[in-house]
Amino acid sequence: MSDSAHEPAHAAISDFLSEERRFPPPEGFAEGAVVSDRSLYERAEADPEGFWAEQAGSLEWFQKWHTVLEWELPNARWFVGGTLNVSVNCLDRHVAAGLGERVAYYFEGEPGDTRTISYAELLADVERFANVLKGLGVRRGDRVAIYMPMIPELPVAMLACTRIGAAHSVVFGGFSPDALRDRINDAAAKVLITADGGWRRGAVVALKENADAAVAGAPSIEHVVVARRTGDADGPTPMTEGRDEWWDDLMAGADPSCEPEQMEAEDLLYLLYTSGTTAKPKGIMHSTGGYLTQVAFTHRAVFDVHPESDVYWCAADIGWVTGHSYIVYGPLANGTSSVLYEGTPDFPDKDRWWDIIERYRVSILYCAPTAIRTFMKWGAEYPDGHDLSSLRVLGSVGEPINPEAWTWYWQTIGGGKCPVVDTWWQTETGAIMIAPLPAVTTCKPGSATFALPGISAELVDDAGEVVERGGGYLTLTRPWPAMLRGLYQDPERYRETYWSRFEGRYFAGDGAKLDEEGYLWLLGRVDDVMNVSGHRISTTEVESSLVDHPSVAEAAVVGAKDETTGQAIIAFVTLRGGQEHTSERGEDLRRHVAKLIGPIARPKTVIFTDELPKTRSGKIMRRLLKDVAEGRDLGDTTTLADPLVVEEIRRLSSQQPTEE
Ligand code: PRX
Repeated sequence: MSDSAHEPAHAAISDFLSEERRFPPPEGFAEGAVVSDRSLYERAEADPEGFWAEQAGSLEWFQKWHTVLEWELPNARWFVGGTLNVSVNCLDRHVAAGLGERVAYYFEGEPGDTRTISYAELLADVERFANVLKGLGVRRGDRVAIYMPMIPELPVAMLACTRIGAAHSVVFGGFSPDALRDRINDAAAKVLITADGGWRRGAVVALKENADAAVAGAPSIEHVVVARRTGDADGPTPMTEGRDEWWDDLMAGADPSCEPEQMEAEDLLYLLYTSGTTAKPKGIMHSTGGYLTQVAFTHRAVFDVHPESDVYWCAADIGWVTGHSYIVYGPLANGTSSVLYEGTPDFPDKDRWWDIIERYRVSILYCAPTAIRTFMKWGAEYPDGHDLSSLRVLGSVGEPINPEAWTWYWQTIGGGKCPVVDTWWQTETGAIMIAPLPAVTTCKPGSATFALPGISAELVDDAGEVVERGGGYLTLTRPWPAMLRGLYQDPERYRETYWSRFEGRYFAGDGAKLDEEGYLWLLGRVDDVMNVSGHRISTTEVESSLVDHPSVAEAAVVGAKDETTGQAIIAFVTLRGGQEHTSERGEDLRRHVAKLIGPIARPKTVIFTDELPKTRSGKIMRRLLKDVAEGRDLGDTTTLADPLVVEEIRRLSSQQPTEE
């Protein structure tokens, strides 16, 4: 990041409308999935609060709420006066209903090891681990950091926090020690739960070593709990006497039963950090009652879940919000059997996913367009070699799904018989907001269709006027139960980021388009947030880590369109005097970013330039850099201080080999 300010965070909406994205539905599709019952939408529209209260009623409460909603923009309180416990809703009530033997998770480790965990077993583990946490001094209202691979101990740790009323902060296992440390410090977490390592493409990710490096700069951590996953495959695990404890040892000595805390509906359930337009990640706060109500409802409705017979697989990582809401809380609240897969799609072979679907008879698959586009590239031979006839519903999340990928998913994976539900939502919204309802909503490939019952979305133009047809900024006009309750310890930034751009509206940061029939088409972010493989990364955060390197004077980062990952990170870098523009230097900078943030933030390409294009007032014109990176004609360059700079950058970037 340079010292000079950037262009306004929001580009003009017209920039996002250059491309026609509406495609006709594939032959035979529209007839197959015509609207059969829209009464849910109508009921919810007539009485949104009544609708949500009805949904909340399907949870188990210790004490019923007295007020459905208190709304004082931007602060919402849902189900006020109600008390409940999330782990009771996800576990105890199913066991009490005689479903203890039902499978909660089919765990599939990357090396091929498997474990089946029933609801009764999951509850037993959660109660024990809740007592472990208590024994380590964790109390109601405390924060617990979790940095784990995709193993069953991860949902156990989360649910154990909810049982005793501690808020968890899960940090994606691909993040760096620095990123973990900053998140721990912001939340002042008392305990860190991690593992010795995780498996990724046959290699060990050294989680405990990362955790140690993070904790060295995180004075609030009193204890580190370490689950065993990779053993000594990568050498012995460093353990600090008096601070670090093995998960198994603590569990062996723990009391098996733990009374659930009766939590207020509005109590903090968890924090999840996400990238914004500044270098500092935002601690998104989610509540207990409203959040669980909406994730349970959306999971049930959007995927048409039949818990008694479905095998559901959300292939996200629990380190992101998709995993929180649709691997842990939604599916468990509904008593669903889920697949939990630790590894990557191509290990040991490129048919790993299809093999999993065939073996577990998966009926609902939920994944990101990047994965679908990657499978398309690999070719139909991989899915074709497997029996995928168990599939019933296919979901997509995280980025706009292009019609080609939608159609391939529908035909090649779903055999042309499964509805494809494209689901738009955000870490901040907590739960799905815009999506079709299978068998109710007619789909168009590439459109997320309509706001769900109980949700009100509208597009507005630059002046905040409602747009009925065509492009605009996506806003939400009413509070919703799973909405974020703020940014941790930063109420001003909360109001400023989401509720100030358009009066009375939540501004999502996305552009969208309404077609002639009122279908919504998401167009991507209109701010300085990139979306790489469905993961949200801040341009400013990457710029900050580039200028952290001693050789860098200034850096500007843009997300350029990429066929597979949606966007790719392209960095334009000016080196300090005397430094050479070598490919080793580029590699070094890419490594530096990966070290500071995590491998997902590693720029795909670094382009060295002696100067960055700036306005006369010194602002970097990122829009032009994006045009360069995407090979487009340059728009208006009259505000540039030196128009020759961008020509030079264009010449340089065309010579630059793209590094894979
Ligand atoms: O730009 C939108 C995109 O992902 C952003 C939210 O990212 P995150 O908070 O990490 O949550 C991702 C998983 C919910 C949004 O602002 N996005 C998410 N889903 C879609 C999408 N863009 C288009 N279509 C979607 N279905």
